[in-house]
Amino acid sequence: MNPRKIIIDTDPGQDDAVAILLALASPEVEVLGITAVAGNVPLALTQKNARTVCELAGRPDIPVFAGCDKPLKRKLVTAEHVHGRTGLDGPTLPDPTVPLQDAHAVEFIIDTLRKEPEGTVTLCTLGPLTNIATAFREAPDIIGRVAEIVSMGGAYFEVGNITPAAEFNIYVDPEAAEIVFKSGVLTTIMPLDVTHKALVTQPRNDAFRALGNATGIATAEMTDFFERFDKAKYGSTGAPLHDPTVTAYVIAPHLFTGRHINVEVETLSDLTLGMTVADWWGVSGRTANATFMGDLDAEGFFALLTERLARLP
Ligand code: BDR
Ligand code: CA
Repeated sequence: MNPRKIIIDTDPGQDDAVAILLALASPEVEVLGITAVAGNVPLALTQKNARTVCELAGRPDIPVFAGCDKPLKRKLVTAEHVHGRTGLDGPTLPDPTVPLQDAHAVEFIIDTLRKEPEGTVTLCTLGPLTNIATAFREAPDIIGRVAEIVSMGGAYFEVGNITPAAEFNIYVDPEAAEIVFKSGVLTTIMPLDVTHKALVTQPRNDAFRALGNATGIATAEMTDFFERFDKAKYGSTGAPLHDPTVTAYVIAPHLFTGRHINVEVETLSDLTLGMTVADWWGVSGRTANATFMGDLDAEGFFALLTERLARLP
């Protein structure tokens, strides 16, 4: 089978980095490009971190584009308290030597969707949805050309992580999320309900480190660093590894289960801004617009991830 063509839209972020590494290690997908967005840290760092990760994977050929530096309507909220000052705190990685592409990320997304055959490009989103919403607004003709959006964001049973009601990626740019979720594109969402079951326990972290390659060791150091925050917060022995669920789903969808339901984003209330109102129980009568995942085979997910990271330098 031909590999699935994907664009990774991301705000690295240690868990974004692991999601990118998983994709670059997997023959089931072809990464056409990486588009950076402001999120976990400002854009100047996310675009740099994306290039650092490609070099770590031995893939300086992957083009990296810088996109939107702030949400559509709101002031940027960042998460250095989780990811550290650089966004990739943990390992000591060299600064990237591969240059950033000249084109804007939104331009790359639009051009790629127009150039590639209709229905062949999947958008994997790991951060706030600003770049994707901007592309859809600027070029509505591309919307019908997207094969699928697979997106980490939102929560229903787990409710929120950045506020009591909202998950970080949606909270940072709720208007962008609303545009994307209402776009009509086939959409699969990886909410906290799934990612909070993908816990990096000590044996799983040890397995990354034991690979002995630069990527395995860096992954162990990254997850060690950014998960200290969630372990303290949730009082758990392992902390969630969010974004790799997106690339894992594209590679191995059988690892995940969910429901095709209606998902709307709160954009008005200060109290619940960015909440994903997911009609898990089918009580609203509103039309289903997304497959909202609820569970994963955590053992299978970590086995896949570890086996793939072993293939990288
Ligand atoms: C999401 O927010 C970011 O901190 C992570 O990279 C992930 O994309 C989890 O809420
Ligand atoms: Ca992210």
